[in-house]
This record gives sequence, structure tokens and C-alpha cells, in this order.
Amino acid sequence: MGSSVIEKPLLAALSGRRVSPPPVWLMRQAGRYLPEYRAVRARARDFLELCYTPDLAVEVTLQPLRRFPLDAAILFSDILVVPHALGAELRFVEGEGPRLEPVFDRAGLARLGAERLHERLGPVYETVRRLRRALPDRVTLIGFAGAPWTLAAYLVEGRGSKEFLRPRVLARRDSALFGALVDLLTESVIEFLSAQVVAGAEALQLFDSWAGVLPESELRRWCLEPARRIVATLRARHPEVPILVFPRGVGACLRLFATEVGAQGLSLDTGVPMAWAAAELGGPSGPTLQGNLDPVALLGPEDRLLEEARAILLAAASRPHIFNLGHGVLPETPPERVAALTRYLKSGGE
Ligand code: CP3
Repeated sequence: MGSSVIEKPLLAALSGRRVSPPPVWLMRQAGRYLPEYRAVRARARDFLELCYTPDLAVEVTLQPLRRFPLDAAILFSDILVVPHALGAELRFVEGEGPRLEPVFDRAGLARLGAERLHERLGPVYETVRRLRRALPDRVTLIGFAGAPWTLAAYLVEGRGSKEFLRPRVLARRDSALFGALVDLLTESVIEFLSAQVVAGAEALQLFDSWAGVLPESELRRWCLEPARRIVATLRARHPEVPILVFPRGVGACLRLFATEVGAQGLSLDTGVPMAWAAAELGGPSGPTLQGNLDPVALLGPEDRLLEEARAILLAAASRPHIFNLGHGVLPETPPERVAALTRYLKSGGE
């Protein structure tokens, strides 16, 4: 390594080294809890326009970095831009979340296609290019995508859900149709992430937010196998770019993700005790663990918040670790709590 090159803490942790204090970033670190985000959001016609306007997307990506000592910026976009670029109609309804044109049969699948993927996602790549130029030296730029199962779940359900029954039933009743949808999404996610790397992303995260509704057999087929394929293809194309996977809610099946996917990082949700993960998930050659503070801790008193953060630091101390939440920052979060947390982490948790 040349003497002028400072290694970025987040990339050091993803290369399997323990970094002290551990690097920190927060899922959904840009968003409605910040008044400056709400101000920019008000300038866009809707949320998708914010995602597809590089000037605005760059600005909101950088906002949390101006306030807090974070080690990474995550591209501001949304996982649902991939289904959108495949031709699914998508709207974000104020206060209710996403609405998509549901896919439940072959005709619905036939309406989707990857022909215009890169054209429609061009503004996202432009955002990545501009961010890479704008970020300070020690900050890592993270690109991301939704995992095929989670994207298929939104596409089949047509909206968010607590249960995602429609996709779970379709996957069993017509696994050929569901498999064709998951294959299309898998190939599209690979091309989308690869293009983000070419544009300047230095690490990638795959969000499988709804993996936790599946039993092991279904999880292997719809989450584990696509993740393995995505990681293997990207590692072959871009060996220098580490990948984090976030299979939310999978409990003891995390072991499969730690051993069979081949990703450098594993992001833990709030339900997994960090001490268990540090002891059980892979030993010295296992993935770097990311997580996993309860986002609700940021809504409570500061002393409890810092106590919980400290417990996670101690539990993960034996392993390469990236401090994060177990899920995204909530809109109700007081920004001063995020300031207190990140200040505490940078002081070494003392
Ligand atoms: O700061 C960051 O983390 C980067 C940006 C980012 C957003 N969404 C912005 C966003 C990222 C990485 C995502 C990922 C995402 N989007 C996931 C996976 C992570 C998770 O939370 O499990 C999922 C499932 C989605 C789908 C999605 N997008 C939903 C269900 C919603 C509506 C719910 C809500 O919080 O409003 C969104 C909208 C969304 N994505 C917002 C933001 C900042 C809020 C939109 C607004 O400003 O009104």
C-alpha cells in the first residue's frame, strides 16, 4: 500500500480486520428524521423523482455525513427502482408506502423485461459517480440493491405487507413462474450492482428485508441460492469490492448465510444477540458482522442508548465488526440521539 493511501476503516473491517473503534454507518441514515431531508424532499414532485434526480439524491446522501462522524455514505435510492426499471408501475403513496402493479400470472411476468434496465437506472449511476467525487477520503461509498426474494415479494403482493402471503403461496403453487421472476430479478440485480461498481461504489449491500417469513427449504431456494449467485458473479467481476448481505429475520438460518453465500459481511437484525453471532457465525474466517442496535433505542433516553451500544461493542469485540442498527433509522428519531451515539462510538465507547 502506497504511503499516501489511507485505508478506509469500513473497507479494512470488510477485509476481515478488527478496527478500533469499529466503523459505523446507519441503515436509512438519510431520511425523514432530518429536517434538511424533508426540505429537499418537498422540492421533488414525489419520492421517485428524488431518487432519479442526481442533484437531489447526492444532496440527501451527504446530509447525514455533515452532521455525524459516519464511515460510509449509502447511495440514496430505493430497492424498488429495479422492479420499476423492469417495467412495473410504481408509486409511493404518502403515509402508506409503495404500490406496484401486481404480478400474479405469466402475462404479468411477460410485461417485465430488462431491455431498458440501464437506461432507466442511468440517473442512479450518475448519482454514484458524483458521490464518489464528493466524498471525503476516509468515507466509503456503499451501493445497494434489494434481494430477489424481497423484490419479488413486493411485486407479487403489489404493496408492503406484514405477512407477504401472496408471494409465499405463489412460490409453492407455481414455482416455475415464481422461479422465472426470481431469475429475472437475480440477473437484473447483478447488472444493477455491477454498474454501480463501475460508477464508483466501493462496497455493496444486498437487502433481503423479508427473508424472515420463509422456512428453511424455501429460504434456501429463494434467498440463499440467488444471494450465492449474485455474490459469486460480482466477486468474479469486481474482486476488490466487498459485499454485505442482510437477510433480515432469519434467526438460526444466519449460519447458512455465513457459510454458503461467500459475502465478506453479514448484517444482523435486532433479534439476534451479538454475542451469539460472534461465537457461532464462522470463527476467524467468518464474515465481518454488522449491526445491530435496536432503532427504537434512538427514541429512548440517552443513557440506555449508550449502554446498549456499549454492550454490542463488547459482544463483537473478538470479531471484525461494523457498527450499525438492526434495521433502518425511524422517522421519529431525534437527530441529537444519532449525534450522541456516533460521538460515543468514535470516543471508543468510553
Ligand atoms: O439512507 C439509506 O439507507 C439509503 C436509502 C434507502 C431508502 N430505502 C430510502 C427511502 C434504502 C437503502 C432503502 C431500502 C429499502 N426500501 C428497503 C430495504 C431496507 C428495509 O428498510 O428493510 C425496503 C424494504 C424499501 C421499500 C420501501 N421504500 C418502503 C417499504 C418505503 C415506505 C416506508 C417508509 O419508510 O416510508 C420506502 C420509501 C423510502 N425509501 C423512504 C426513504 C427515505 C421514505 C420516503 C419519503 O421520504 O417519503
